[in-house]
Formats: sequence, C-alpha cells, structure tokens
Amino acid sequence: MSNFAELNYEGKLYQLPVIEGSEGEKAIDISKLRSTSGLITIDKGFKNTGSTESAITFLDGEKGVLRHRGYSIEELADKSSFIEVAYLVIYGELPTEEQLKDFQLEITHHTLVHEDVKAILEGFPSKAHPMGVISSLVSSLTAFYPKSLDPNRSSEEVNGTIIRIIAKLPTLAAWAFKNRMRQPLVYPNNNLDYCSNFLRMMFGLPTEDYHVDPVVSKALDKLLILHVDHEQNCSASTVRIVGSSHASLYASISAGIAALWGPLHGGANQAVIEMLEAIKADGGDVSKYITKAKDKSDPFRLMGFGHRVYKNFDPRARIIKKAADDVLGALGVNDPILDIAKELEGVALKDQYFIDRGLYPNVDFYSGIIYRALGIPTDMFTVMFALGRLPGWVAQWKEMREYGDPIGRPRQVYTGHNDRPYVPINER
Ligand code: SDX
Repeated sequence: MSNFAELNYEGKLYQLPVIEGSEGEKAIDISKLRSTSGLITIDKGFKNTGSTESAITFLDGEKGVLRHRGYSIEELADKSSFIEVAYLVIYGELPTEEQLKDFQLEITHHTLVHEDVKAILEGFPSKAHPMGVISSLVSSLTAFYPKSLDPNRSSEEVNGTIIRIIAKLPTLAAWAFKNRMRQPLVYPNNNLDYCSNFLRMMFGLPTEDYHVDPVVSKALDKLLILHVDHEQNCSASTVRIVGSSHASLYASISAGIAALWGPLHGGANQAVIEMLEAIKADGGDVSKYITKAKDKSDPFRLMGFGHRVYKNFDPRARIIKKAADDVLGALGVNDPILDIAKELEGVALKDQYFIDRGLYPNVDFYSGIIYRALGIPTDMFTVMFALGRLPGWVAQWKEMREYGDPIGRPRQVYTGHNDRPYVPINER
C-alpha cells in the first residue's frame, strides 16, 4: 500500500503524501501542493475535502456507522446520559462516577445567567425566532465574562468558560421561549437534572410547582445524545473556523448556532414538520410530494431526507423513529403526521430517484414529531438541536485549539475582470 499519490502536471511528476486515519480513511495531504506545483484545489461545499484530523467522532456514511470517541451511538443512546456523553466528547473518555458527579455539580451551579441578560432579552419582539435570540444571547456572554474573550488563558479558566456555556444554554433557550410567549421567566432549580431543569424553565411558571414527566425528560435526554456531535458538519466547521482566528468560545458557538439555523442543516427539523403539515392540509397525498421532490424545476425538497455523508440510513434516524413510537405511545399521543412521515418514507425508499442518490431519512426527519409530542413548539426545534450539539461544538473548538490548527483561510480561483484603467464618471 503506497503512502503517496502522484500528480502528473505539465510534464512534471509530484508526489503527495497520503495519510491514513485509525479507521483506515485515507487522505492526500496537499499542504505543500501550491508551493511545489503552483496549483491549488477547488471543491465547492468541501464534498471531498477534509479540513482537519479529529479524534472526536467517526462516521461511515456507506455503512451508517456513528461513534463518539469509539463508542457507538446505539450504545450511548441506550445506556448513557446526555451529560455523560457531553463529558465523553469534550474530555475524551467516559467519566468515572466521581468525575461525572463533579461535572454535574459544576454545571448545576452555573445555570443562572446575569440579571442584565433580561434587558437584552426584552429587546427582542415576541415574534423573534428563538435561534436568533440564543445566538445573540450566547454572544452577549462575552460581556458578562470578559476573561472568556481570551482563549489562550489557563486550561482551568478555559474549562470554566466551557462549563458556563454548557450550564447556561438551557436557561437562555428556555428564556428565549418565554420571551416569545411573553410569559414570566422561570429560574433554574438546582435540585433538578439537566433535562428536567430545562423542561421546568420552558413550561413551568414562577408561581407554581411544575411536575416534569419522567417519560418526557428521558425522551429529551436521548434526543440530546443523538445530536451531540457529527464530525465536520456545517455548524461544527463554522465553530472551528471562527475559533481558528482566536475568537472566544462564546463567539464561536454563537456563529455555530447561526449556521445550524439554516433549513439545509439543523433548521430542517422545523422544515420537516412544516412540510408534513402542508401535506396533511393538502389531503395527505404523499406521492404528489415525492413527484415534486424529484422535479428539478420544482424548488421543493423532501426535508429530512438526504445527507452529505450518509448514503445509507442515518443511524440516528433509525433510533429516533423507534423512539417516536415509544414516546407517543407512552404519552398516549396519536399524531397523524407520524403516519404521513412513515408513508412518505416508505414510498421514497422504493423510488429509484431516492435509491440512486442514496437519499434516506436523516436525523431531522422524525425528531420534530417527538419534540411536538413533548409539547415543544415548532420554532424551538432547532434550538433543541443546538442544545444537543453544544458539547460537540465545544469539543471541536477545544480540539482545534489543542491541535494548534492555523487560522482557516481558503484560497480561491479568480474569475473576474483582468487589469483595467479607472474610468472617470463623465466617461462611463
Ligand atoms: C443535518 O453534515 C451533517 O452531518 C449534518 C447533520 C448533523 O448532524 O450535523 O447530519 C444534520 O443537517 C442533516 C441534513 C438536514 N437537511 C435536510 O434534511 C434538507 C434536505 N436535504 C438536502 O437539502 C440535502 O440532502 C443535504 C443538504 C442534506 C445534502 O446535500 P448535498 O450533499 O449537497 O447533496 P446535493 O444537494 O448535491 O444532492 C445530491 C442529489 C441532487 O440531485 P442530482 O443533482 O444528483 O439530480 O440528491 C438530490 C439533489 O437534488 N437531493 C434531494 C434531496 N437531497 C438531495 N432531492 C430531493 N429531496 C432531498 N431532500
């Protein structure tokens, strides 16, 4: 097996090193390509381009494999907890009982946010999309924790910055919802676990006790595990490239939230429900929408279907689909759009267009159906994705800093005008 590739260009032969990862993935290292051959590469959307080496998450898109630090998503979703998986992706190993207890305790004692955050929150109209609100509020944390601005501080101080964002995002997310509903804010309760605390801040009222249904908090915990990280996806790459300029963790996470918002990425979970609702309102004829999805002249896409890496089933979608049946059954919820989703999936998976392109349901196809059953409003679905993905973003940012990756600054191929003289305005 050769550890280099050869490029034959204009009669010259260039040898480019090939590196191999721990799962046998191979990549041509082109870091010296321009200095030796004068060539750069171009790969719109980075479909064939690796941006870094990483030890956090491994995906095999052809086999539908997803592992975090070597542990399969199936095992983690079945046997672990969100906080434990957050610890795993951020620090690299499953915590001991002592380490997990300390981690949970630190998070519990940082869930409160500065009272002045309320003034920023109240500046948002009730119609403000919660993703825009939390992206702004996360960025505002740099004002309340100015030491977080410097990512080169001691590892203890950087870890304190990490703990604060893991602890405070649920509070900021729940308060964004309360602001949307123009309801009074509910403060964190340190006697509750991560998910129960969030649900109480979302649906509780300051004037009364709120009982968190264990079925709901357990389902939410599993959903957050399933979203925790996904290697160099659009938002993780955004967090990395912002962090590569030595911008703060909070600024990098705020940018990651903005990237996740798009309907082609995390915003798809909201778009899926809106699509299923539209199909239901239009009489439930799924084949009409399959035809639309295949029609190149029609901008309609089957939201929640397709993936840049998975050309087989997204393993998370398989777990969420089963969880949807379990949770709706346990809550006694009968949601007709779950039936429409299953019918849509069934028709698409037999259709040559989808088969030829390896288009399967992705993580966003069924997740919204569970969020709905949990009482979470549609425009909060992507906020839930952000809550789950936060430990992954933190882990990617931390790894990028620890690896000492250089500032991200891609090249380009210029296609504009060649050199030309300035023309005075009266001669144009
Ligand atoms: C997430 O990267 C990650 O890991 C993301 C994520 C994570 O955990 O971080 O997994 C989360 O973002 C999941 C994806 C959520 N987005 C959606 O569900 C939106 C609908 N899906 C697509 O828009 C699309 O599939 C993408 C954006 C997910 C992937 O797009 P690609 O890899 O750029 O593929 P493409 O757009 O070039 O599509 C390839 C072909 C095209 O047809 P041809 O030009 O070959 O004829 O497949 C077609 C596309 O038209 N196609 C679809 C389709 N998705 C792709 N056709 C109809 N419906 C779709 N959903």
